[in-house]
Amino acid sequence: MGIPSGGVAFFDSGIGGLTVLAECKKFLPDRLFYYYGDNENAPYGNRKKETIEKYVLTAFERLRELAPQAAVVACNTATAVCVEKLRKIYSFPIVGAEPAVFAAAKRGGEIYVLATKATCESVRFRELCRRAAEKYPSARLLPFPCERLAGEIEDHLLDQNYDFSALLPKGYPNAVVLGCTHYVYIAEQIKNFYGCETYDGNTGMANRLRSFVDNLPNPYNGLNCGKLGATTRNHLDELEVIPKKQPVYFLGSQKTVNKHVFEQMFVKCRK
Ligand code: DGL
Repeated sequence: MGIPSGGVAFFDSGIGGLTVLAECKKFLPDRLFYYYGDNENAPYGNRKKETIEKYVLTAFERLRELAPQAAVVACNTATAVCVEKLRKIYSFPIVGAEPAVFAAAKRGGEIYVLATKATCESVRFRELCRRAAEKYPSARLLPFPCERLAGEIEDHLLDQNYDFSALLPKGYPNAVVLGCTHYVYIAEQIKNFYGCETYDGNTGMANRLRSFVDNLPNPYNGLNCGKLGATTRNHLDELEVIPKKQPVYFLGSQKTVNKHVFEQMFVKCRK
């Protein structure tokens, strides 16, 4: 049985976007979600712009088949490289991921902005930092490309004792921006390492998504997937995350990995 169309599509290079998906699911529990992680090609951060764009477009062509109501590029790197292009190609609304530099800069002081190399080198990111610095002149924004961090998180996330601190720039910032959705998983470790607050854009993205889809009819409202006849227990695309609420359908060659990580990290309490 196929995947029902008309849901909200999420995309990330790998597991990072699951942190955004989890946040959006809290805000929109009755919407149907798809998650496409391109783990096979992750991490994207050290790749060329053209390569990243090619991978993202391949994923979006698959997502387009499901006629999504909206899409979330739950990846700062992909957003930095090609969100404008996606918006030109696809007619559904697309929410992008942007490092939360404004929220952090507001407090002033030295702000570390941790992101991938591709994000740090992008015009979009530089322009974002320039605007934030102009608005909050008491802030000193320091971008750091963390070349290995997303890949290590992708590989070691479920190892609870793994120490990622060797991959973090040393120093004493007043706040740290997590400019990659993978970093959100280790926010506590980063907070403890620097002894300061961290900022991520996940709640902002969930709010933005809600502002788009709140005006759209929800074809699945009040129904669970069983009633729609769309649940196939042995189908790898399917995962009913929260009983009585809509499921998440995982797509892409690593769908079982993403499904497993999502269950381990975000739906433990249900077991
Ligand atoms: N999760 C991604 C981001 O937000 C991409 C990390 C990567 O693949 O390098 O930037």
